[in-house]
Parts: sequence; C-alpha cells; structure tokens
Amino acid sequence: MEYFDNNPRPPSLDVHSETARTFIEQHASQGRRVALVTSGGTTVPLENQTVRFIDNFSAGTRGATSAEYFLESGYAVIFLHRQFSLLPYARHYSHSTNCFLDYMTFSSSGGVVIGDEYQHQMGDVLAKYKNAKQENTLLLLPFTTVNEYLWHLRDLAMSMQPLGPNSLFYLAAAVSDFFVPADRMVEHKIQSSEEFNSLHKPGEAGGAEPPAAHMEGKKLVIDLDPVPKFLKLLVDRWAPRSMIISFKLETDPSMLADKARYALKKYSHHLVIGNLLATRKYEVLLVSAGGEKWLRLPENRRSRSVTKLQDGVDGGDHEVIEIEAWIVPEIEKLHTQMIEKGDPRIRDG
Ligand code: PMT
Repeated sequence: MEYFDNNPRPPSLDVHSETARTFIEQHASQGRRVALVTSGGTTVPLENQTVRFIDNFSAGTRGATSAEYFLESGYAVIFLHRQFSLLPYARHYSHSTNCFLDYMTFSSSGGVVIGDEYQHQMGDVLAKYKNAKQENTLLLLPFTTVNEYLWHLRDLAMSMQPLGPNSLFYLAAAVSDFFVPADRMVEHKIQSSEEFNSLHKPGEAGGAEPPAAHMEGKKLVIDLDPVPKFLKLLVDRWAPRSMIISFKLETDPSMLADKARYALKKYSHHLVIGNLLATRKYEVLLVSAGGEKWLRLPENRRSRSVTKLQDGVDGGDHEVIEIEAWIVPEIEKLHTQMIEKGDPRIRDG
C-alpha cells in the first residue's frame, strides 16, 4: 500500500510489535482466542513538531468497556488505544468529574482505605484486573495519531495471522477520514501573525504541493487528504482468516442502517455494528450476512450519568446494564460458529 511508503513508521512500533508477538505466541500455545480491540480517537497533526492537531470526540468508552467483556468471555485482548483515553478496569475510576481520591478515606489507625460504600464494586473490579494481570491476558498498546494507528493495525494483523480463525478484530476506534500526508506537513509551528509571516516565510513542507495547513492573510487554511480505506486491506490481505467486526458511526438516524449494510457489502467482513452518536451508549444495530438485529437497553437499565460515584445502581432500584455486555456475547456466538463450522463467507458462498 502506497500509504506506508510515504508516511513514516512510528518509532514505538518495533517495541510494540515485539511485545505483541510474545503475547500472541503465549496465547496461541494455550489455544486461547485473541481479540484486537481498537479504541479512542486518532489525531491528525498539522505540524511535524506538533503544537496543533485535529481530534475527535471519542473517549474510548466503547473499546475499554468491550475489552472487559471479551476478557470475561475468555479472550486475550490486545487493546490498541489512544494514549490517555479510557482503559479497561481503570475506566471505572478515571476520567470522571470525581477525583479518584474521593473513593478513599482514613481508617481509624490513620491509614488510607477505600470508603465502605465503594468496597463492593471496587473489590469486584480489582479482582478482574488482578486476574487479567496474573494470566497476562491484557496487552495495552497506545497510539496518538492516525498514522501511528494505521501502522500498528497492519503490523498487529500480520502478527496475528498464525492464530487463524482464533483471532478477532473489533474496530471501535474513531478513525479520522482525513489527514495531512508527511510530504505536505510543515516542520514548525504555524505562525498566526500576519506581520511575522510576511517577514519570515515559513519553511515549506518539502513536497511539490503547498503545505496542507498554512496561513492566507489572517486565515488558517487546512487542506486535508483522504485517509485510505484500510478495512478492505485488513479483510482481504492483512487478516484474511480472522473474524472482523467494524463499527459504523452516524449522526442522522435515517442513514444508519443503509450505511451499515453498504459497509458490509463493500468490505465483505463479518459484522458491522451501527451506532448513532447520540444514542450509542444504549442502542446499536448489528448487521451481518445472517440478518439484522437491534440491541436496545430498556430505559430503566440505562446509565444516566457516567460521572457519578456509584455501585452499579443508577438512581432507582435497577442495576445499570452496559450495552457492551450484550454486544460481546453476540460476537462470541458468531465467532464460535465460525471456528466450529467454518467461515460463513466461504460456507454460505
Ligand atoms: O469512544 P466512545 O465515546 O465510546 O464512542 C464509540 C464510537 C462511537 C467511536 C464507536 O462505537 C464507533 O462507532 N467507532 C467507529 C467510528 C468510525 O470510525 O466510524 P466511521 O463511520 O468513520 O468508519 C467506519 C469504519 O471504517 C470503521 O470501522 C473504521 O475502522 C473504518 N475506516 C475508517 C477510516 C478509514 N480511513 N478507513 C476505514 O476503513
């Protein structure tokens, strides 16, 4: 793919690849399924020495939550995530408006302990976290830019090939559709001052075209290239024997089902999970060759707050359900069928 000839290999990739290969070998030898869960948003830097970048909304809730349910279902998980986004297990206590210190208090002897009201939930999360550590079933690999994401995805997919159908891709990251290619990126911080710009012509990006982000008078003009659609390559070349699940994000409800169906037809993978920005935490549409199905949490089981210090109960008497607790078992079922009966794309023509 031309993209990888023209955009730089991230310095972190060698170390991450080596760690991932060891992780994959361990689980392959134990006959365990391995899921690559991608999570969080990708950035698009405007300068090589990056001061400014374009980002998106994703905090990584879908990915971090799903990773926990994959672990619970017996998968080993490679968690390819945006640096500093939500992490499995830690997500219960980070990124909220409550400070993590609010969970703690002083014991009668003056030591620091977890408050009584949080003991139960925290004990539960801690036990699962410790188990994942002890079994070495969770590998955390961070990325920041869309370029780092693409290089990692390709490399990890190749490393997972020996797992055959025991491997699964769950592409929950919010991947940018547009970017600044390396040969159109300026080296230094873009100067906003008109006077300064007229005195000191900023360094060109080195390519034939003008820098993708540059000043025109008082305006910053940004001219982005499309990010190549990598899903086709993943399905056909990088991971041809794996189960592949992609997400389709829309904001207009009238487009969601059609766009999800279109993606499944275009990429010929196993499952598209359609979700709307506004309702993504409590409803999703599953679209596969076998049919379509909405998963919708009942109103009284939806979390009304993501920031509240809580013990799994939100307001009334009803325990909150996370939609990922329903999504992952559906996927596990499809994956088991594929492993036991063969790839439905080949089996059913
Ligand atoms: O983190 P949260 O707040 O919980 O939000 C979760 C989520 C809404 C981000 C998640 O559920 C989700 O929908 N993730 C996919 C977002 C996305 O990239 O959607 P898209 O419609 O732009 O892309 C559709 C698919 O094409 C994606 O699977 C993506 O992997 C793929 N793609 C995208 C860009 C690109 N250049 N090539 C691709 O192949």
